[in-house]
Amino acid sequence: MSTLRGADGVFTLGGASLESIAAQAGTPTYVYNLDGIAAEARALRAAFDGAEHLVAYAVKANSAGPVVRALAAEGCGADVVSRAELLVALGCGVAPERVVYSGVAKEDRELDAAIACADRGIGAIQIESVEEVARVEARARAAGRKARVSVRVNPSLELAGATHAHIATGHDAAKFGVRREDVAAAVALVEASASLELVGMATHVGSQLRTLQPYVDGARALFELVRALRDAGRVKSLAFVDTGGGIGVDYAGDPAAPALRPAEFVRAARKEQHARRLDDLALYVEPGRALVAAHGVLLARVIQPKVTATARWLLIDAGMNDLLRPALYQARHRIVPLREAPSDGSTASRDTVAWRVVGPVCESSDDFGEHRFGTEPPAAVAILDAGAYGYSMASCYNGRQLPAEVFVSGGRVVASSERGSVERWVEERVGVGVVARAR
Ligand code: LLP
Repeated sequence: MSTLRGADGVFTLGGASLESIAAQAGTPTYVYNLDGIAAEARALRAAFDGAEHLVAYAVKANSAGPVVRALAAEGCGADVVSRAELLVALGCGVAPERVVYSGVAKEDRELDAAIACADRGIGAIQIESVEEVARVEARARAAGRKARVSVRVNPSLELAGATHAHIATGHDAAKFGVRREDVAAAVALVEASASLELVGMATHVGSQLRTLQPYVDGARALFELVRALRDAGRVKSLAFVDTGGGIGVDYAGDPAAPALRPAEFVRAARKEQHARRLDDLALYVEPGRALVAAHGVLLARVIQPKVTATARWLLIDAGMNDLLRPALYQARHRIVPLREAPSDGSTASRDTVAWRVVGPVCESSDDFGEHRFGTEPPAAVAILDAGAYGYSMASCYNGRQLPAEVFVSGGRVVASSERGSVERWVEERVGVGVVARAR
């Protein structure tokens, strides 16, 4: 966690005052600490102890240029799920061979972009169904190229309670990956094609895993399959195994319950890999959240309190369109005032009063939960651990514009982008009707 409260009660992120950033950039604004993100990548890469590996950062978590560039500079590759994310990764300096492309429904033009880049296309297109093999093959043949592919295996794991149902992906009812019993058929189709080269086998069991077990179970299922295929004389061209993303973060920030470090997931997966005698294969991982979540906050101003006989609401200027996670997954993010009131012992200054923090969006789920502040509520707050799946899931719902973003390194702001323009949005929306009528 790179958010700290200074002796003066002012919160900082990566050494920069959040209050000054809010004053300059306005609110709602996402602020990210690039140094914290880079340090996260270094710690994770160190866990491989020099073994061949790739940390393919899941760009969907946060696709901002400064973030992707910082991770590319640390030697990370990218896991992308659209042509747009592919172009962001390449544009931020990720080498094409260090990109893997996941997704159940890639369009032809997306496949074409992945196959066409550089001399040999991207590192691997992850095949997610038996049917997809023929589609990738047809696009590779049309391009006159041999496309590198990996087969993403659905390990058929019920996560039951290990994470939110919306973000569990490796179970029987999920649309993701090739089912175990179909893997041999998918592999055979790839191996029979002159336009495809099987370079990897992958899996991804789900996101926000807080214990090692589901991750290890997924890795083991993948490695056992690869071992069996090898024992049968298959998959000779394999270069890597990929255990996916999913490493969770500690949103509660409970000092009494120390969180698992991301590096422990890697060490556990390496042990399983070793046990299946697959040490000659590079180990790929696809973390998103673990690299960026804790190093981003969403700044919001308190518009006004609303106190009734039954409730105390704190109405802020950030809503579910800016940070969807609480509404979509019932996620709870900690919220701190940008400036803590000096503690004079009065109830006005102590965190004694429960405020229900809600946004301006016309939905009851636009609710960030109950948080304790003094009777005198703060003027502005930071919603913590918002660096992953925050801005990247934001929308213009209710005509609210995408938030500003500010990037901090070395204790100062090094890049920023402005909040979306209401005027441009109105012009575009009004224009839609005009174009439709003109047709
Ligand atoms: N690889 C694949 C194939 C994935 O589908 C995902 C995430 C990742 C890697 C990265 O997972 P991570 O390390 O970030 O857990 N919007 C949700 C999370 C959705 C994750 C989707 N797939 C949230 O805010 O919790």
